Amino acid sequence: VIQFELLDPGKLSANESYRVLSNLVIPRPIALVSSMSKLGIPNLAPFSFFVVGGANPPSVVFSPVLGSNGEKDTLVNIRETGEYVINLVHREMTDGMNQASRPLPSDENEWDISGFEGIESHCVAPKRVASSMVQLECKLFQILEHGEGIGAARYVVGEVVMIHRHPELAQFHPISRLGDADYLDLQDGRTFQLDRPG
Ligand SMILES: Cc1cc2nc3c(=O)[nH]c(=O)nc-3n(C[C@H](O)[C@H](O)[C@H](O)COP(=O)(O)O)c2cc1C
Repeated sequence: VIQFELLDPGKLSANESYRVLSNLVIPRPIALVSSMSKLGIPNLAPFSFFVVGGANPPSVVFSPVLGSNGEKDTLVNIRETGEYVINLVHREMTDGMNQASRPLPSDENEWDISGFEGIESHCVAPKRVASSMVQLECKLFQILEHGEGIGAARYVVGEVVMIHRHPELAQFHPISRLGDADYLDLQDGRTFQLDRPG
């Protein structure tokens, strides 16, 4: 009989649970989310707690968890405006994506440090990341709050209202997130490491 290791979440800290789960549930696609505050300040940030959830209507979910400063700007913006764009990330976008994960004050804009160019969307106000091969324009369906404190999930469920697919999609495969600093490049099947900026 195989003796599985038992990990009781009731006995783990939030940080330990995060490390355990994010190392086990892999690989995860990365949603580079473009949103905008009600004052019109653009925001860009990556999220790997992200998945497709349905097709009728098309829907996607991602989770900006509560951080040390509470709700992340992306969550606040989407609650206020109901609109965002999910941009998929390939290898050449890695550095810009990583820069966009910096915890900047809400009145500062990650587009500038990421170096990405924005292009107008068709159905929503936030711009798309021009270099991304797949851009999903989304409208908020529901935010589901599960738990309180650092690491608590905030599931952002959105309806995909427009899909932009690059004509050379076949040449650009997304990267995905593994545990810790590890990433997987679907282009060559290799893993690589990336430290968070700052
Ligand atoms: C590859 C990658 C994946 C990430 N995934 C998540 C995630 O799923 N949920 C989350 O809350 N933060 C995630 N982060 C951290 C956020 O990007 C980071 O907290 C960011 O500063 C949030 O930006 P905002 O406050 O402008 O919304 C991830 C960072 C990286 C580099």
